[in-house]
Amino acid sequence: MITDRIKSLDAILATAENKSLKRTLSGFQLMLFGIGCIIGTGIFVLTAAGAQKAGPGLMLAFAIAGVICIFAALCYAEIAATIPVSGSAYTYTYATMGEFLAWTVGWALVLEYAIAASAVSVGWSGYFVGSILNETLGIYLPPWLSAGPLALGGAAGGFINLPALVIALLVTFLLVIGTSESAKVNAVLVVIKVSALSIFIVLTLPEADVANFNPFLPAGVFGGWGSGVGAMGAAATIFFAYVGFDAVSTAAEETKNPQRNVPFGLVGSLLFCTVFYILVAAGAIGTIGGQPIMGPGGIPFPAGSEQLAEQCAMPQYAAALVCSDEALAHVLRQIGWSGVGNFLGFAAFVALPSVILVLLFAQTRIFFVMSRDGLLPEVLSRVHPRWQTPYVVTIFTGVVVALGAAFFPVGRLADIANAGTLYAFAMVAIAVMVLRRRRPDVERHFRVRGLWVIGPLAIAGCIFLFLNLPSDAMIVLPVWTVIGFLIYFGYGRSRSHLGQGITEVVDDIEGDETLIPIDPPKD
Ligand code: ALA
Repeated sequence: MITDRIKSLDAILATAENKSLKRTLSGFQLMLFGIGCIIGTGIFVLTAAGAQKAGPGLMLAFAIAGVICIFAALCYAEIAATIPVSGSAYTYTYATMGEFLAWTVGWALVLEYAIAASAVSVGWSGYFVGSILNETLGIYLPPWLSAGPLALGGAAGGFINLPALVIALLVTFLLVIGTSESAKVNAVLVVIKVSALSIFIVLTLPEADVANFNPFLPAGVFGGWGSGVGAMGAAATIFFAYVGFDAVSTAAEETKNPQRNVPFGLVGSLLFCTVFYILVAAGAIGTIGGQPIMGPGGIPFPAGSEQLAEQCAMPQYAAALVCSDEALAHVLRQIGWSGVGNFLGFAAFVALPSVILVLLFAQTRIFFVMSRDGLLPEVLSRVHPRWQTPYVVTIFTGVVVALGAAFFPVGRLADIANAGTLYAFAMVAIAVMVLRRRRPDVERHFRVRGLWVIGPLAIAGCIFLFLNLPSDAMIVLPVWTVIGFLIYFGYGRSRSHLGQGITEVVDDIEGDETLIPIDPPKD
């Protein structure tokens, strides 16, 4: 039963052929697109949470997470170039391992995209409140309006993160009326983000003091499975800083000379970000220090925990990197570059909403495809007559994302998003190998060289990072999966279009789809 109901690859490929998007993207454009999706809350905000887990070892953490993402990205690129239709990892799994596993992947992608969108909204809120409201406009929101409650890991005195709630709803509105980011807007935002980070590196690195890197690994390399600390614990958290490249892999079908340009764009954007991230971490820690605040037994307090929030409320930690909601702007202010710090805050304020937009967009499209497959209620795939957008699913998703952003801290949300993402990435690596074995005949516009080494490494890396997440984030994935099972067996399995003998390939919102009756599979 687990691997029955495999969607016909030939039906999918027939649809993809009809679509035949023009190959217009160059490797450099693909790289720009990648950097636009990738750089966001991870580096601008989670640098603080990463330092709380690993101290200066955060630099090692960025390198490890970056390499694992490069392996996963290559797998994504091959399958995206082979099965170029909507639905990302969900569709790839449907076409290789069947409906049940595809459902689990689609369900896990909710964690990747929706929860990540909440996390980026909270990250944006930190910069909006700190750099725009406080520092630039001199407006101070009461603490209860600018953070989630302490009981959930928010700041002391917090109740609701109103700016995070508002930005998530605003982006939802933009998506409902059909806003999509143009390549030009993306390029401008990439320039803004990269300039802000470059200026940060140029101003901080010369000021770095070697003494601040000692001890380099205050919480060790492994803090223990599920502890979420140490360099590996930090790698599992700041893995979030790389999420988004999977959106790039879906552009593989629009890339000129994909065999050369897809790996160039994907690996190039990830390598670029990895180097940048390590330099930013070095600048932040080298200037103001980044040692964790230790709890009982010399183990760092968990990032995003009530205990850490209590410590951060104490005057002696007022300037600590690990306590800041706007880590990078905070560092610049501490070393006497307040104006530049505010500019960096402004860059985050302008650029992070586009990351929320990409994530929310991806989430609504996954739900849309699952609903068109009959696995979720059809009302979710209702398209707005005027705006031509799947408005029901967009509004539903946006409200859930906004509520997550209103009440939970960024580090917690990012860890949960990572748990779902790692599962989806591992399944994609498996799907790529299954497809190579089962359908060697299918044309691949991009083939991974050394797949039988890279695929297993990607899977092992994902499992390894997953096991280094804090146990409360780790446990969310199985609990979420069990809820998914209940929905699948209680609702989706009997209503599945494929189960009823129809292969439905959804290409895009405009309803360009192919219906191919087949023999109903035997249960
Ligand atoms: N990689 C994206 C970010 O860091 C999700 O915001």
